[in-house]
Amino acid sequence: PERALLRSTGSPPLSLEALNEIITASDAFVPGGTRAVLGEGPLRPDLAFIGEQPGDQEDIQGRPFVGPAGAIFDRALAASGISRAECYITNAVKHFKYEQRGKRRIHQTPTHGEIKHYRWWLQEELKIVQPKLVVALGASAAFALAGRPVKVSESRGLTKFDTVPAVLTIHPSYILRLQDKAQAETEFAKFVADLNLARACLA
Ligand code: URA
Repeated sequence: PERALLRSTGSPPLSLEALNEIITASDAFVPGGTRAVLGEGPLRPDLAFIGEQPGDQEDIQGRPFVGPAGAIFDRALAASGISRAECYITNAVKHFKYEQRGKRRIHQTPTHGEIKHYRWWLQEELKIVQPKLVVALGASAAFALAGRPVKVSESRGLTKFDTVPAVLTIHPSYILRLQDKAQAETEFAKFVADLNLARACLA
Protein backbone atom coordinates (compact mmCIF):
# COMPACT_ATOMS: atom_id res chain seq x y z
CA PRO A 1 0.00 0.00 0.00
CA GLU A 2 2.80 2.44 0.77
CA ARG A 3 4.29 1.91 -2.68
CA ALA A 4 0.92 2.64 -4.23
CA LEU A 5 0.72 5.80 -2.19
CA LEU A 6 4.25 6.75 -3.15
CA ARG A 7 3.32 6.29 -6.81
CA SER A 8 0.13 8.29 -6.43
CA THR A 9 1.80 11.21 -4.68
CA GLY A 10 4.98 10.97 -6.76
CA SER A 11 7.32 11.51 -3.85
CA PRO A 12 8.11 10.07 -0.44
CA PRO A 13 6.67 11.86 2.61
CA LEU A 14 8.82 14.84 3.54
CA SER A 15 7.94 15.11 7.19
CA LEU A 16 7.47 12.73 10.05
CA GLU A 17 3.88 13.96 10.38
CA ALA A 18 3.17 13.05 6.74
CA LEU A 19 4.80 9.64 7.14
CA ASN A 20 2.95 8.98 10.39
CA GLU A 21 -0.34 9.84 8.73
CA ILE A 22 0.34 7.18 6.09
CA ILE A 23 1.28 4.63 8.74
CA THR A 24 -1.76 5.41 10.88
CA ALA A 25 -4.11 5.16 7.91
CA SER A 26 -2.71 1.80 6.75
CA ASP A 27 -4.08 -1.57 7.75
CA ALA A 28 -1.98 -3.83 9.94
CA PHE A 29 0.00 -6.36 7.95
CA VAL A 30 0.32 -8.77 10.89
CA PRO A 31 -2.36 -10.95 12.51
CA GLY A 32 -3.82 -9.32 15.59
CA GLY A 33 -2.48 -5.82 15.12
CA THR A 34 -4.91 -3.08 16.02
CA ARG A 35 -3.42 0.39 16.09
CA ALA A 36 -0.12 1.59 14.69
CA VAL A 37 2.43 2.48 17.34
CA LEU A 38 4.54 5.30 15.93
CA GLY A 39 8.11 6.22 16.70
CA GLU A 40 8.71 8.98 19.24
CA GLY A 41 11.49 11.41 20.04
CA PRO A 42 13.28 14.41 18.59
CA LEU A 43 14.53 14.83 15.02
CA ARG A 44 18.32 14.66 14.48
CA PRO A 45 18.98 12.86 17.76
CA ASP A 46 22.31 11.32 18.65
CA LEU A 47 20.71 7.88 18.92
CA ALA A 48 17.75 6.10 17.34
CA PHE A 49 16.72 2.78 18.87
CA ILE A 50 14.91 0.26 16.70
CA GLY A 51 12.86 -2.43 18.44
CA GLU A 52 10.94 -5.30 16.92
CA GLN A 53 7.27 -4.48 17.28
CA PRO A 54 4.91 -3.07 19.90
CA GLY A 55 3.75 -5.48 22.60
CA ASP A 56 0.51 -5.64 24.57
CA GLN A 57 1.15 -2.50 26.65
CA GLU A 58 2.52 -0.54 23.71
CA ASP A 59 -0.61 -1.39 21.73
CA ILE A 60 -2.81 -0.25 24.62
CA GLN A 61 -0.87 2.93 25.39
CA GLY A 62 0.14 3.75 21.81
CA ARG A 63 3.81 4.33 22.64
CA PRO A 64 6.94 2.23 22.06
CA PHE A 65 8.69 0.41 24.90
CA VAL A 66 6.29 1.16 27.76
CA GLY A 67 5.70 -2.48 28.87
CA PRO A 68 7.97 -4.99 30.64
CA ALA A 69 10.67 -4.89 27.92
CA GLY A 70 10.48 -1.10 28.11
CA ALA A 71 11.18 -1.25 31.86
CA ILE A 72 14.42 -3.17 31.22
CA PHE A 73 15.26 -0.80 28.39
CA ASP A 74 14.72 2.21 30.68
CA ARG A 75 16.91 0.68 33.38
CA ALA A 76 19.69 0.03 30.89
CA LEU A 77 19.46 3.57 29.49
CA ALA A 78 19.70 4.96 33.02
CA ALA A 79 22.68 2.72 33.81
CA SER A 80 24.43 4.01 30.73
CA GLY A 81 23.54 7.65 31.40
CA ILE A 82 21.45 8.03 28.24
CA SER A 83 18.42 10.29 28.45
CA ARG A 84 15.45 8.55 26.84
CA ALA A 85 13.82 11.90 26.04
CA GLU A 86 16.80 12.79 23.83
CA CYS A 87 16.60 9.59 21.79
CA TYR A 88 14.32 8.58 18.96
CA ILE A 89 12.62 5.25 19.64
CA THR A 90 10.72 3.19 17.12
CA ASN A 91 9.98 -0.35 15.94
CA ALA A 92 10.65 -2.34 12.78
CA VAL A 93 7.01 -3.47 12.67
CA LYS A 94 4.45 -0.87 13.63
CA HIS A 95 1.60 -3.14 14.78
CA PHE A 96 1.40 -5.68 17.60
CA LYS A 97 1.38 -9.21 16.17
CA TYR A 98 -0.31 -11.52 18.62
CA GLU A 99 -2.37 -14.62 19.14
CA GLN A 100 -5.35 -14.43 21.47
CA ARG A 101 -5.27 -17.12 24.17
CA GLY A 102 -8.17 -16.69 26.55
CA LYS A 103 -7.84 -13.17 27.84
CA ARG A 104 -4.15 -12.91 27.03
CA ARG A 105 -2.63 -11.61 23.83
CA ILE A 106 0.52 -13.58 23.19
CA HIS A 107 3.32 -11.90 21.24
CA GLN A 108 4.23 -13.60 17.97
CA THR A 109 7.58 -12.97 16.33
CA PRO A 110 7.11 -11.26 12.95
CA THR A 111 8.20 -13.18 9.86
CA HIS A 112 10.84 -11.81 7.51
CA GLY A 113 8.06 -11.14 4.99
CA GLU A 114 6.15 -9.08 7.53
CA ILE A 115 9.25 -7.12 8.54
CA LYS A 116 9.98 -6.44 4.87
CA HIS A 117 6.49 -5.09 4.40
CA TYR A 118 7.16 -2.46 7.07
CA ARG A 119 10.74 -1.79 5.95
CA TRP A 120 9.95 1.03 3.55
CA TRP A 121 8.34 2.97 6.38
CA LEU A 122 11.34 2.47 8.64
CA GLN A 123 13.74 3.58 5.93
CA GLU A 124 11.72 6.74 5.26
CA GLU A 125 11.44 7.35 8.99
CA LEU A 126 15.21 7.18 9.48
CA LYS A 127 15.83 9.40 6.44
CA ILE A 128 13.64 12.06 8.05
CA VAL A 129 14.81 11.58 11.65
CA GLN A 130 18.52 11.51 10.72
CA PRO A 131 20.02 10.05 13.87
CA LYS A 132 23.79 10.16 14.26
CA LEU A 133 23.80 6.47 15.16
CA VAL A 134 21.23 3.69 14.97
CA VAL A 135 21.00 1.00 17.65
CA ALA A 136 19.30 -2.22 16.56
CA LEU A 137 17.63 -4.06 19.42
CA GLY A 138 17.66 -7.70 18.35
CA ALA A 139 17.49 -9.72 15.17
CA SER A 140 14.18 -8.38 13.84
CA ALA A 141 15.48 -4.80 13.97
CA ALA A 142 18.74 -5.91 12.36
CA PHE A 143 16.82 -7.67 9.58
CA ALA A 144 14.74 -4.55 9.01
CA LEU A 145 17.83 -2.36 8.78
CA ALA A 146 20.02 -4.72 6.77
CA GLY A 147 17.35 -6.22 4.52
CA ARG A 148 18.88 -9.64 5.12
CA PRO A 149 19.16 -12.00 8.09
CA VAL A 150 21.74 -10.92 10.68
CA LYS A 151 22.75 -13.04 13.67
CA VAL A 152 23.10 -11.00 16.85
CA SER A 153 25.65 -13.53 18.17
CA GLU A 154 27.85 -12.96 15.11
CA SER A 155 27.50 -9.23 14.51
CA ARG A 156 26.89 -7.84 17.99
CA GLY A 157 28.50 -4.48 18.75
CA LEU A 158 29.64 -1.90 16.24
CA THR A 159 28.58 -3.02 12.79
CA LYS A 160 27.27 -1.73 9.50
CA PHE A 161 23.89 -2.19 7.81
CA ASP A 162 24.64 -1.55 4.15
CA THR A 163 27.16 1.24 4.65
CA VAL A 164 25.46 2.81 7.65
CA PRO A 165 27.32 2.42 10.95
CA ALA A 166 25.17 1.03 13.74
CA VAL A 167 25.34 -0.79 17.03
CA LEU A 168 23.66 -4.17 17.20
CA THR A 169 22.64 -5.56 20.57
CA ILE A 170 20.09 -7.90 22.06
CA HIS A 171 16.41 -7.18 22.46
CA PRO A 172 15.64 -6.35 26.12
CA SER A 173 12.92 -9.02 26.23
CA TYR A 174 15.72 -11.60 25.89
CA ILE A 175 16.78 -10.61 29.42
CA LEU A 176 13.16 -10.88 30.62
CA ARG A 177 12.99 -14.46 29.40
CA LEU A 178 16.08 -15.65 31.31
CA GLN A 179 15.11 -17.76 34.32
CA ASP A 180 18.54 -17.73 35.90
CA LYS A 181 18.99 -14.52 37.88
CA ALA A 182 22.77 -14.44 37.66
CA GLN A 183 22.63 -14.96 33.91
CA ALA A 184 20.03 -12.22 33.59
CA GLU A 185 22.35 -9.86 35.47
CA THR A 186 25.30 -10.77 33.25
CA GLU A 187 23.23 -10.22 30.12
CA PHE A 188 21.93 -6.93 31.47
CA ALA A 189 25.51 -5.76 32.08
CA LYS A 190 26.43 -6.75 28.50
CA PHE A 191 23.42 -4.83 27.21
CA VAL A 192 24.52 -1.74 29.15
CA ALA A 193 28.04 -2.20 27.76
CA ASP A 194 26.59 -2.11 24.23
CA LEU A 195 24.76 1.12 25.06
CA ASN A 196 28.02 2.54 26.43
CA LEU A 197 29.66 1.57 23.15
CA ALA A 198 26.97 3.46 21.25
CA ARG A 199 27.65 6.53 23.39
CA ALA A 200 31.38 6.21 22.88
CA CYS A 201 30.86 6.13 19.10
CA LEU A 202 29.28 9.59 19.31
CA ALA A 203 32.17 11.20 21.11
N1 URA B 1 9.28 -4.74 22.21
C1 URA B 1 9.64 -4.03 21.12
O1 URA B 1 10.40 -4.47 20.28
N2 URA B 1 9.13 -2.83 20.98
C2 URA B 1 8.31 -2.27 21.84
O2 URA B 1 7.89 -1.15 21.62
C3 URA B 1 7.96 -3.03 22.99
C4 URA B 1 8.45 -4.26 23.15
